[in-house]
Amino acid sequence: MRKKIVAGNWKMNMDYNEGLSLFSELINMVKDEVTGKQQAVVCSPFIHLHSLVQLSKGYTKFSLGAQNAHQAESGAYTGEISAKMIRSVGAEYVILGHSERRQYFGESNDLLAKKTDTALKHDLNPIFCIGETLQERESNKHFDVIKNQLAEGVFHLDETSFGKLVIAYEPVWAIGTGVTASSAQAQEIHAFIRKEIASKYNQQVADDTTILYGGSCTPKNAPELFAQPDIDGGLIGGASLKSRDFVDIIKVYNS
Ligand code: 13P
Repeated sequence: MRKKIVAGNWKMNMDYNEGLSLFSELINMVKDEVTGKQQAVVCSPFIHLHSLVQLSKGYTKFSLGAQNAHQAESGAYTGEISAKMIRSVGAEYVILGHSERRQYFGESNDLLAKKTDTALKHDLNPIFCIGETLQERESNKHFDVIKNQLAEGVFHLDETSFGKLVIAYEPVWAIGTGVTASSAQAQEIHAFIRKEIASKYNQQVADDTTILYGGSCTPKNAPELFAQPDIDGGLIGGASLKSRDFVDIIKVYNS
């Protein structure tokens, strides 16, 4: 059975103290209220990671992740952070290929394939993001775009390495816009992603892959989205900055 995961992406929000108090609040609420087998992940800015890992010690419901990692092992890359550094503070996940990185930092599929390799080498689980722009959807290219992002970004991996990934479908037009994909639109793409994985690897690998939906996910729309057969949780931006909203989204999977 594949894992159900609700991951928060704080993006470039929260100073150090704000982040620590939000996370402490989250832990207390989740301890009291979450009863299912779902996994919660917080992908914070780098500055918080070490402290958040310490705060979550002994409590397996929460894992921590970074939002980016450099493709090189180490070296003269002023201002960058390596996968090894991220792993060394106890984080287990790293978001790769977020559309904001693709758009504002020019990250290509080729570069992301390298970042994926380096992250896996250092025992991080990439949350690999894919998704089409509004223009691509309107010109009916969304399936091709998704297919290509998978083929060039992650399908070079062998079956065992691919099994360590989480895939996140985030339609660019739904991110931070308040416009969410309908559950039918999201399910259609998730089923397509799973079919692509099955044809590249096999049905078992496809069935075991956790595929998250991201884009204006809220406590209101999460129940219907998460009820779709190929949606295994969410990657949550804005709503992950509000403890009540984020915990309510995690609770969609309460048993
Ligand atoms: P919003 O939930 O704010 O739309 O952001 C989604 C996202 O980009 C998560 O990575």
